[in-house]
Amino acid sequence: MKKFPEHFLWGAAMSAPQTEGQSLSHGKSASTWDYWFAEAPEKFNQNQGPADTSKMYDTYAADCQRMQAIGMNSVRTSIAWTRLLPDGKTVNQEAVIFYRKYFQAMLDHGVEPIINLFHFDLPMWLMDQGGWESRDSVAAFAYYAETAFELFGDLVKKWTTFNEPMVHVECGYLYQYHYPAIVDFKRAVQVGYHTLLAHAQAVEAFRKVLPKGEIGIILNISPSYPRSDSAEDQLAAQRSDLLNTRSFLDPAVLGNVPEELVTLLAENDLLPAVKADDAALLEENTVDFIGLNYYQPRRVQAPEHAESPAKMPHDFYAAYDWPEKRINPYRGWEIYPKALYDVAIMMKETYRNIPWYVSENGMGVADEERFMNASGMIEDDYRIEFMQEHLDYLHQGISEGSNCFGYHAWTFVDCWSWLNGYRNRYGFYSMDLATYERSVKKSGLWFKATAEKNGF
Ligand code: BG6
Repeated sequence: MKKFPEHFLWGAAMSAPQTEGQSLSHGKSASTWDYWFAEAPEKFNQNQGPADTSKMYDTYAADCQRMQAIGMNSVRTSIAWTRLLPDGKTVNQEAVIFYRKYFQAMLDHGVEPIINLFHFDLPMWLMDQGGWESRDSVAAFAYYAETAFELFGDLVKKWTTFNEPMVHVECGYLYQYHYPAIVDFKRAVQVGYHTLLAHAQAVEAFRKVLPKGEIGIILNISPSYPRSDSAEDQLAAQRSDLLNTRSFLDPAVLGNVPEELVTLLAENDLLPAVKADDAALLEENTVDFIGLNYYQPRRVQAPEHAESPAKMPHDFYAAYDWPEKRINPYRGWEIYPKALYDVAIMMKETYRNIPWYVSENGMGVADEERFMNASGMIEDDYRIEFMQEHLDYLHQGISEGSNCFGYHAWTFVDCWSWLNGYRNRYGFYSMDLATYERSVKKSGLWFKATAEKNGF
């Protein structure tokens, strides 16, 4: 029997835009997703848009019961900035009532809320003013954060500022998966930098409003594994980690942007505009905990044809196709559970063994109805195996002293996923797209047993 530490958090992660529905009603204003879907629905899998995702705005009470029914003692979701402050300044009272009832329902069912403030859903009014490229976005986010802490801080003790900040940077400004779908490395760096400052300023507000609470940030982690021991491949892996991991993890935990990253950006004319007090803001506002979303590793090699100065990240490191990889064919992502052990040890040794948790881990599979048994339950043994293997390596890291306090799966109920719509399903519960009815999968029952035993 592998036991996890006492009070270990077992749960699942979600986000407001992927679950609430009612995305343009009850006082909510448009996010970039609402806008982009209206402009270019053909970009979205089967024209599936963000309007009525999972309808949790209406079904939250029954959903909180469902969380409890599968042994979840915690959940992460986000607040929609556009619902709480539709114009960035005025509080939408309907949103306050909704979120207070929602968070209270979690507590009533023994499910601790971890509330995140930003999950890729930028208000359209802010995008119209330049979005994260504009320095004004920093103060706008800090104001929103402070408002949320004041309104819900009596119910919510654990907060996070951003989910995967690197994703809106690279998807919005390098790879065109998010609005505004621009390709410009220098602008991407500026967007990342303002996001980092917005995070730090929100932490500063948190310390004033909720000095007894805990605040963190959720980062996507794909550890970089080099093709070989050659100096060139090793350098590619270091640069990949610098850009993708250390860019946010170092300032969030250690209080500073790595020197090597500053040098690399300077050498390539990619430095963002900064102000004199920024370094102090970062230094004084480190976090209490970290959430790490882990799905797949990053295999890298030295690039064969690199432009100098760099125009794209692939000028620093190229993707390496490891012949021995195991792949989840639906999502196209490598399955490599050992990375969770490596991450656990990295947190212990490089990041002062700060408390951290696995804030997302999961397996997206298409057409899961194929696995439905005679009584209508989806038997997703592959997902159970996936999670068990990851938990095994996580457990090993914890037994060697890594300070991990929880494991959250992505996700609770099958949900809408950005440009992929409902193609890949991740939930412990399936959702009928016509009726929105939820049914527990075999993995939900397995999760309950695992959480109850606090191990497996
Ligand atoms: C995480 C995000 O990166 O991965 C979620 O926080 C997302 O929003 C999840 O849905 C799964 O990825 P995808 O692209 O298959 O939905």
